[in-house]
Amino acid sequence: MQGSLTMNELEILPSEEVFILFQKLVHSKLGIHLAKQKRMMLGHRLFKRVKYIKASGFSDYFRYINKPENTNELEIALELMTTNETFFFREHKHFDYMVDTLLPKIKPNKEFKVWCAASSSGEEPYSIAMVLNEHCHTPWSVIASDVNKSVLNHARKGIYVDDRAKLLPDSYKKQYCTKGIKEFEGYMRVKPELRKRVDFFCFNLLDDMAALGKFDLIFIRNVMIYFDDNTRQKIISGLQHCLNEDGHLFISHSETLHGLEHNFELKQPAIYRHLK
Ligand SMILES: C[S@@+](CC[C@H](N)C(=O)[O-])C[C@H]1O[C@@H](n2cnc3c(N)ncnc32)[C@H](O)[C@@H]1O
Repeated sequence: MQGSLTMNELEILPSEEVFILFQKLVHSKLGIHLAKQKRMMLGHRLFKRVKYIKASGFSDYFRYINKPENTNELEIALELMTTNETFFFREHKHFDYMVDTLLPKIKPNKEFKVWCAASSSGEEPYSIAMVLNEHCHTPWSVIASDVNKSVLNHARKGIYVDDRAKLLPDSYKKQYCTKGIKEFEGYMRVKPELRKRVDFFCFNLLDDMAALGKFDLIFIRNVMIYFDDNTRQKIISGLQHCLNEDGHLFISHSETLHGLEHNFELKQPAIYRHLK
């Protein structure tokens, strides 16, 4: 660590060698595969932290985050490696499928349980909860997880710029959100009645899922694109054990289970049914 450094004295990009160290670290901790074209992105995302802790460069920063006493900084670095883009009612075909196909078939009095894995800042699980509140005629629950604690804190607060809710139907906006005024102009907040129906918790998809129990529907969208085939296989095998018979799995329309071993029947693009 050095006394004081100006921006010009710091390297802006990690060397190829140091990039490989970060690549291995991110892969082992999060399962995320950083292709070598991501060297610039890594440099941009970590540069402020390198400066903040007054490391002499990326290599020094790498050593720092690997010391047992610096796990907080390691967590920050890993969070910066995640991409958290999300919005309300993203890929609406999944929500249409819930309303038109899944929910009308639920057995009376049986709880309908949903897990939103990789929920980011909450727009996705709140969209799910809105649909369930409107269309599910049995008890229901939604749990939502992400590995990134900062986005989970954001999710629990439930405050969003209006821009994130462009696809949120007006009737839902009225019923489930409060419009920001004065200094909150341009923002909206999910009402407490709905916020308390979604249980957010930190969970790494590389960890053992068995203890989470069984679900009727799992959303795991726009996260497996960051993983390699081995990691995706491990996660899909784990998810199978977390689904009830006849349970459904929603992945993103830009993802596929092609090439992986699984016990799912493809119902529609990005919609799978669990077979026993
Ligand atoms: C692009 S967002 C997707 C958000 C939402 N599912 C959607 O489709 O709009 C990807 C999320 O996956 C999370 N993520 C990345 N690696 C993870 C891991 N190993 N375990 C759990 N979540 C992870 C990131 O923190 C990020 O919030």
